[in-house]
Amino acid sequence: MARAWIWLLLLIPAALPAQSSPTGYVGSNVCRTCHPDVWFTFYKNPHFKSIASGKLPPDRTGCEGCHGPGKAHVEAGGGKTTIPHAFSLMSQDQILNACLRCHAPDFGKANIRRSVHTQNDVVCTACHSIHHSPTPRFLLAMPQTQLCYTCHGNIRAQFDMPSKHRVNEGFMDCSDCHNPHGAFPPTWRMGQRPRMVEQAITNQEACFKCHTDLIGPFVYEHPSVAVEGCEQCHNPHGSMNAKLLVRPVVFTLCLECHNGGASGTRNMGVDIQSARHNLLDPKFRQCTTCHVRIHGSNADQYFLR
Ligand code: HEC
Ligand code: HEC
Ligand code: HEC
Ligand code: HEC
Ligand code: HEC
Ligand code: HEC
Ligand code: HEC
Ligand code: HEC
Ligand code: HEC
Ligand code: HEC
Repeated sequence: MARAWIWLLLLIPAALPAQSSPTGYVGSNVCRTCHPDVWFTFYKNPHFKSIASGKLPPDRTGCEGCHGPGKAHVEAGGGKTTIPHAFSLMSQDQILNACLRCHAPDFGKANIRRSVHTQNDVVCTACHSIHHSPTPRFLLAMPQTQLCYTCHGNIRAQFDMPSKHRVNEGFMDCSDCHNPHGAFPPTWRMGQRPRMVEQAITNQEACFKCHTDLIGPFVYEHPSVAVEGCEQCHNPHGSMNAKLLVRPVVFTLCLECHNGGASGTRNMGVDIQSARHNLLDPKFRQCTTCHVRIHGSNADQYFLR
């Protein structure tokens, strides 16, 4: 008897006259009767706000805001083909458009339609789970690092190297540097290979979000930092070398560019056997013991202080 009561309660909304409109919207309460599992977690979902407020038009409210008008589906007693947006039957492109119908304005800072992910058919539901998300924020299908590694497993090892950013330890996320929704071509590195690297402070590299002491502009810029970007000398994820450097020995890194007059530019080449720099003397191989402000200086042209 008690059980029958519960079922009766669930059926009440369906028994009420559905607020059906000519366009075939029946309201979320009707969906609840046959999809209680989805319904009973939905109150925690940010998309529940439209039901709670009751102020939006039917095509932007609750279940039907995403799945489309449900009248035909309800009258047929269910079925995948009767609901306009059954995501399991939709192409990646249709899913993208269904979500962007409302979310397009959120992506002012992301290049969503041209992102490498979108171009490779990795769209919203590959990363977000509307009804079964284990994360409290952003409805992610999995905790973020785990999510990214399901497709980018090779990156994990880079964050286990001796010198690294502590992503695997949970102190940092991939999205601290990347925008998984796509980024615009950067102004550093002359616009080459954006790699979905997020822009900080409108148009600078994401590194500056945290390494604020290096932002500049400096009176004396090191063009390698300011123009080519941090990856010229650092591996952003991790490295076998100290300080995430791309080379084990600092001077070999410097000599990639400052090699004995190879370029016609002023002061590009270091005179490798002068009184000032004698590379036969190991002391001079520690370039950054003298050129301490290697990222730029406000006091000295040669970055000595
Ligand atoms: C009378 C019961 C009933 C009602 C009311 C009902 N559904 Fe369904 N729904 C079903 C059944 C049965 C299925 C089929 C499940 C299957 O085939 O796996 C289904 C499947 C679905 C699916 C899954 C499609 C897919 O991709 O697999 C969605 C989405 C859905 N319903 C949304 C809704 C929405 C939104 C409402 C309210 C407008 C609603 N349903 C109301 C019975 C109902
Ligand atoms: C923000 C968009 C959105 C809203 C709002 C939404 N759904 Fe869904 N729904 C989806 C997506 C996307 C899927 C496909 C599953 C996935 O990829 O996570 C889905 C899947 C489903 C399924 C298939 C079974 C399952 O658990 O995946 C049912 C049934 C369903 N939704 C019912 C509902 C009901 C009922 C509501 C209202 C309480 C609702 N949906 C609100 C986007 C939405
Ligand atoms: C490659 C994985 C991935 C794809 C594809 C993806 N997202 Fe996201 N999304 C994320 C991650 C990760 C976050 C959390 C970012 C953070 O922690 O700052 C997020 C955050 C969000 C947020 C909340 C914060 C914000 O940036 O506005 C919204 C809304 C969102 N995504 C919607 C979408 C929609 C809509 C689509 C499809 C058009 C989509 N996402 C595609 C991974 C993805
Ligand atoms: C009917 C309009 C609408 C549609 C369609 C829609 N959303 Fe949303 N979405 C919203 C609103 C409104 C919010 C809440 C924003 C807020 O919190 O102010 C939201 C929030 C989110 C968030 C942020 C969660 C958080 O914790 O901040 C994510 C992620 C998201 N939506 C993903 C999606 C995905 C993926 C789809 C497609 C399956 C989708 N949305 C379809 C209106 C929509
Ligand atoms: C400290 C900032 C930072 C963090 C954190 C970060 N990345 Fe990167 N990532 C970069 C930069 C910068 C590049 C571009 C490197 C280049 O092109 O030289 C890049 C490149 C990539 C590439 C393309 C190049 C390649 O090696 O295949 C992938 C894929 C990638 N990152 C995935 C991830 C994933 C997954 C995470 C989280 C587990 C992550 N990144 C965390 C900064 C970061
Ligand atoms: C469903 C699989 C999938 C998931 C999940 C995924 N990616 Fe990707 N990602 C791809 C594919 C496919 C490409 C394009 C091919 C390639 O470069 O490997 C790509 C490319 C990238 C690139 C390189 C962009 C470029 O310009 O070359 C970065 C960076 C990246 N993803 C970061 C992330 C981050 C961060 C996450 C987690 C928030 C993530 N991805 C989650 C599949 C995925
Ligand atoms: C979210 C904040 C954050 C961002 C973004 C970030 N870093 Fe870091 N970085 C740190 C922290 C914190 C450390 C300290 C090392 C640790 O975590 O153990 C660090 C350390 C470093 C180190 C020194 C490592 C050592 O052994 O002393 C270098 C070099 C570095 N980061 C370069 C970069 C570059 C290049 C970028 C951009 C591609 C970047 N960082 C982006 C937070 C950040
Ligand atoms: C010309 C090569 C070069 C470029 C480009 C470069 N760095 Fe460095 N960076 C170094 C060297 C060399 C060290 C090690 C200094 C030492 O041994 O004292 C270093 C050290 C660091 C450290 C460790 C702390 C410190 O100040 O010693 C951080 C953090 C750092 N770099 C961040 C960045 C960021 C962020 C960028 C991009 C804005 C960048 N680097 C660009 C060469 C470079
Ligand atoms: C990617 C190329 C590149 C790398 C690597 C590089 N530099 Fe430079 N560096 C430059 C350029 C370009 C200039 C500007 C030369 C000019 O002003 O004519 C410069 C300028 C300098 C100057 C100032 C010269 C002057 O007369 O103003 C010093 C000192 C210097 N670099 C030291 C170093 C050291 C030490 C390293 C290694 C940690 C290093 N550089 C790595 C490209 C590089
Ligand atoms: C013992 C300290 C010291 C070490 C170590 C050192 N430098 Fe210098 N460097 C100087 C001084 C001092 C100047 C010139 C300042 C002046 O002329 O007033 C200079 C000038 C330069 C210049 C400007 C062009 C020139 O030749 O005058 C470059 C480029 C340069 N150093 C690169 C390097 C590189 C690369 C290394 C590592 C192989 C290195 N330095 C190691 C002290 C040092």
